[in-house]
Amino acid sequence: MKRMLSGIKPTGQLHLGNYIGALKHFVEYQDEYEMFAFIANLHCITVPQDPKELQTNLRDCVALYLACGLDPKKATIFLQTDVMEHAQLGYIMCCHTYLGELNRMTQFKDKQANGEQNLTGGLYTYPALMAADIVLYDADYVPVGEDQKQHVELTRDVAIRMNNRYGELFRVPEPLIAKVGARIMSLSDPNKKMSKSDESNKGCIYLLDDLKAARKKVMGAVTDSVGKVHYDPVNQPGISNLMQILSSLTNDRPFDEIEAEFEGKGYGDFKRAVADAVCAKLEEIQNRYREILASDLIETTLADGAAKASAVASAKLAKVQKAIGMEIITR
Ligand code: AMP
Ligand code: TRP
Repeated sequence: MKRMLSGIKPTGQLHLGNYIGALKHFVEYQDEYEMFAFIANLHCITVPQDPKELQTNLRDCVALYLACGLDPKKATIFLQTDVMEHAQLGYIMCCHTYLGELNRMTQFKDKQANGEQNLTGGLYTYPALMAADIVLYDADYVPVGEDQKQHVELTRDVAIRMNNRYGELFRVPEPLIAKVGARIMSLSDPNKKMSKSDESNKGCIYLLDDLKAARKKVMGAVTDSVGKVHYDPVNQPGISNLMQILSSLTNDRPFDEIEAEFEGKGYGDFKRAVADAVCAKLEEIQNRYREILASDLIETTLADGAAKASAVASAKLAKVQKAIGMEIITR
């Protein structure tokens, strides 16, 4: 069985972009692949976090993994810090990553270009830690949204470099990026990615949003004056984004079918259909979320996941350290 691994940062609340671009696929793939799904709580502290809020977000993130359909009997679900090997291999990967490579990573570059102050060393070296997350488990595939493609490519480069230098250590992973929904845009500015750091809060639908508020956000989504439901991301980015959302939430309905259904109808009708699909999905997730919070499923899932993940990770780290010549007593 091929192996798959992915993670999400518990910075703020999970949103519809996280679901459509990543989480939905983790769930789809858990039957077909050996799935490792973790909560990237080392990655999230690369930017300042309020400790109380982070704790809440962490719990919610695990609960939402489960509420969206990840099944602890099929997938290994764990917290990054419960497996110490991530930080240790992260450091080793960092020592094999060139400054030139880190300098090319757009996430850091964008923040720097925006003039953000007090950017941390952790944020800069984060792609090396992400590489460790992936190669620790010899993942074949990494299902992610479009914005993470560059990081998986860096992982490949560093893994190949280390395999060449020390002998075969790691499987070289491939990013798995969906054709539809890999970059869900903000509802209030369809030229910007939907993201947790949406200041206006109008452009981002959180999975735990009140249904009325979510409906209002969809109905208020920025569109255009063309007046036709047509997939054209360049000239009709708002409508195309809503089409992606609708398609992803309704069994990947083809765009031409959606276009045909709304032929000759106004944007109001179309938005109502999108809002219905969004609210139906949120309601399903939120009902399950409430059940999970009232159970002990979070604790049992994480304990189980940490044990399974640690067994794989510790064997890999020992192999790497031995190959590099860093150990005297082999564990
Ligand atoms: P993050 O919230 O940055 O930890 O992202 C977790 C996962 O969600 C990654 O695979 C991202 O690529 C994906 N993701 C984040 N934002 C979006 C978005 N707006 N559209 C699609 N995928 C996204
Ligand atoms: N960097 C990813 C993000 O911001 C989260 C992440 C951390 C990840 N480690 C990973 C994703 C390993 C896939 C594989 O979304």
